[in-house]
Parts: sequence; structure tokens; C-alpha cells
Amino acid sequence: MKVTIVGAGAVGASCAEYVAIKDFASEVVLLDIKEGFAEGKAMDLMQTATLNGFDTKITGTTGDYSKTADSDVAVITSGIPRKPGMTREELIGINAGIVKEVATNLIKHSPDVILIVVSNPMDTMTYLVHKTTNLPKNRIIGMGGALDSARFKFRLSEALECPPSDVDGMVIGGHSDTGMVPLTRLATRNSVPVTAFISEDRLNQVSEDTKVGGATLTKLLGTSAWYAPGAAVSALVQAIACDQKKMFPCSAMLEGEYGLNDICIGVPAILGKDGLEKIVELELSDAESAKMKESAEGVKKTNTLLDV
Ligand code: 2OP
Repeated sequence: MKVTIVGAGAVGASCAEYVAIKDFASEVVLLDIKEGFAEGKAMDLMQTATLNGFDTKITGTTGDYSKTADSDVAVITSGIPRKPGMTREELIGINAGIVKEVATNLIKHSPDVILIVVSNPMDTMTYLVHKTTNLPKNRIIGMGGALDSARFKFRLSEALECPPSDVDGMVIGGHSDTGMVPLTRLATRNSVPVTAFISEDRLNQVSEDTKVGGATLTKLLGTSAWYAPGAAVSALVQAIACDQKKMFPCSAMLEGEYGLNDICIGVPAILGKDGLEKIVELELSDAESAKMKESAEGVKKTNTLLDV
């Protein structure tokens, strides 16, 4: 199993580290345009191999896509991250051109690759990759909901004062500060609805804190987060690499699902060896459907900024 990660910045390198530590891939190739940067990150990570107990081979390259040849999965994290006070959508001017070029280069050397898009604004970048590459829709997956759901579960565990492993919850919709749809109605603590433990007001606060989870960290860190994004991507890569048939909310190209067409937005999906193998259509409440529709309008508005 060969995994390529384009962008050896904080998110890409964190993803490489988590993939290596999980030890399901034979090889991880880190690619960056900054001279020596990916090579350095790869070497530093390889020097943790005997400490962290993995045999995955991590290599780095400065812009040489031939080193990524025959990748099974490729992750696109390249582009600029946001600064405090910026929205993800403000990155489109710079990131769209980068993502388009990266996707094209990856496919040239790995025609059967499954692509995972992370660069922001992620839903729109995922849509751009569909329009640029015309790959089968199961082979292009946008990572946002897995991260947002992890943040949702963290906030739930805080509110419930319980271990994060005790809670379950999912966020669908756009990966944006205003477009996320945390499914509070379905959140549980060990199969018990969380409303048995916290008030509606507290649950609404959890939902609001989740939506700005990325912005909250960008304000604290001065740049976008990287540990949870990297971990979320590694979970998607593992589900594909190990054919796990796991369900994650992912940005998928919709063709009528949830009443939406010609848009990439976060919906529950089953991931396995063929990538995004199935979109799961939930019975949403009227309120959830309205929020999803509003979220889709926001993503479509951003998509109009693309030249596709
Ligand atoms: C985040 O929410 C980078 O969009 C990513 O942290």
C-alpha cells in the first residue's frame, strides 16, 4: 500500500506520522515544493521508527512526482492555511490553482489513485478536483466532516464530563464556520441520547463551539490546526487501505442525494478499498434538512468563484 501526501506542512507531516505509526502502509511519500523540506520531514519521521515501532518507509521529494508513481491513495494538503480572522473561503484565489496542478500531476503518475482533498476551502476544492480530473466520483473524497465530528465529540465529552470514547456524534454539511450541521439530535453517550445528560441550551453551545472549532484554534495558534486534521485524514486513508467499510462524513459529489446535485458537501459515506463506496442517506428532520440546504447554498456560492 503506497500513500502519497502532497504538502509537507504541519497537516501533511502529521498525517504521514499517524499513517506510519498505524503501520498499515508499506510506503509514504511526502512531496513539497520547498527545497529539501519534504526530505527533511521524512528523515526526521523515519528516525522515530524504532521509537514508535513502525516499519512503514517514509521518503520525501521536492516536487518530483515520479516518486509518487503507482500510489494507491494520495492526500492533497498543499496550499496556504488561513490566518486568524480569515475564512476558509478566502483561500480560494491561491489554493485553487495549486490544487488543480497537484491533482493533475498525481493522476499522471498514478492513474488508479484515490484522492483525498484537504486544502481549503475544502468542499470547493473537492468539487474542483472532480471537474478537473473527471475521475469516477468514488475516487475523490473531501476530508472535513471527519475532523468536524472529532471536534463535536470532544465538545460533547467536555459538556458531559465523560471520556471522549463514551460519545458518538456526526457533523455533516459544508466544512465552513457557518455551514456545518452537527447532528445533535443523534448524538449519544454509549447509545443513550445526550439530552438525557445535558440541557438543550448546553447542547446548542456544543454545536456552536463545534462550528468554529477551526477558527478557535487558528486564533490560538496563529495558523490552522494540524494534529486533528492530520489524524482525521489518516483515519480515512486507513479505512481505504484496510478496506474497513467504515462510515465517515466526507465531502462527496452529490447527484440527487439529500436533494442536492452538482455539489461536494459533507454526507455520511462508507469508505473501503474502492474509496467512497456508498453515500448513506439519513432521514433528516425538517430543521436538519433546512440547515443542509442553507449550507449547500453557501458551498455553491463559493463554487461560483472557480473557473471550471
Ligand atoms: C480546520 O478546520 C484546517 O479546515 C481545517 O482546522
